[in-house]
Amino acid sequence: MNAPDPVQLSVALSSAANLGDCASVLQRYPDACIDLIVTSPPYADQRANTYGGVKPDEYVQWFLPKSEQFLRVLKPGGSFVLNIKEKAIHGERHTYVLELIIALRKQGWLWTEEYVWHKKNCFPGKWPNRFRDAWERCLHFTKRRQFKMNQEAVMVPMGDWAQTRLKSLGKNDVVRYDSQVGNAFAKNIANWQGRDMAYPTNVLHLATECSNKQHSAAYPLGLPQWFIKLFTDEGDVVLDPFAGSGTTLQAAIELKRVAIGIDVSQEFVDMCQSLISPAQNRLLEPRTSYASARRSQTVRQKSDRS
Ligand SMILES: C[S@@+](CC[C@H](N)C(=O)[O-])C[C@H]1O[C@@H](n2cnc3c(N)ncnc32)[C@H](O)[C@@H]1O
Repeated sequence: MNAPDPVQLSVALSSAANLGDCASVLQRYPDACIDLIVTSPPYADQRANTYGGVKPDEYVQWFLPKSEQFLRVLKPGGSFVLNIKEKAIHGERHTYVLELIIALRKQGWLWTEEYVWHKKNCFPGKWPNRFRDAWERCLHFTKRRQFKMNQEAVMVPMGDWAQTRLKSLGKNDVVRYDSQVGNAFAKNIANWQGRDMAYPTNVLHLATECSNKQHSAAYPLGLPQWFIKLFTDEGDVVLDPFAGSGTTLQAAIELKRVAIGIDVSQEFVDMCQSLISPAQNRLLEPRTSYASARRSQTVRQKSDRS
């Protein structure tokens, strides 16, 4: 691995919206400069009218050169979250997502976890052989088993469960005990007494928010927000290589991270840039006033001396 060129590094570390194919654009970025990649790529053969479809049978081959670049630019302790869902073709689910997971593992990724986005307001409809599709995968890949994970940042209120279950503790609840069915499962519910917050599950319950977005496949702001809080700290660099309307960039900027977006569509790059520019201007303001404060201080010092 070559040492990163400092000029390139400074490009990678400022928020940016880039036009082009993500595999090509990322070649301008140095190795190991990104803390988190959160993205939702074009789904196979869908929305062909909006931004071109990829055939399900060709999806893995289409994706791999891009994920090779993701692997290169991601820091060793970074994470890659891929929001994706296979479509049904001729009455059965296509297997391209499953094939992609296997191919990504062969490419060097660890398939660390699978989170589920439960779409609380999923599209209504009726099919003869299945029910409404109310969930999508958020596949979590890493480069190694130890990676940055701020579990406390996404804790949730204990809520009703704490109110009702903990009020009526039985004798089995207050001592640690092995399950009465004889397995090694042990619990001590009393440990949860007096706690307000608990760790979440790997299911995110979020409504889709397409109505107020200018992209037909935008995901809700809460989705990238959750992963950014979980896998990065303030000042870290978040990349969305299929940025669309810039939902990931918006979440990253609001959470004080550096946001980098890439899209093949000029229209979407412009949308991303409109999110970045005000944030960059805000960053410049204090520096401007700092500079003018320094100038007036110097003037004051000069007049004190005279
Ligand atoms: C599912 S949309 C992303 C939507 C986004 N998450 C949002 O909330 O608006 C996928 C995006 O990938 C872009 N895209 C397609 N092929 C690409 C490529 N090779 N490189 C970069 N962007 C690409 C499309 O233009 C589209 O905006």
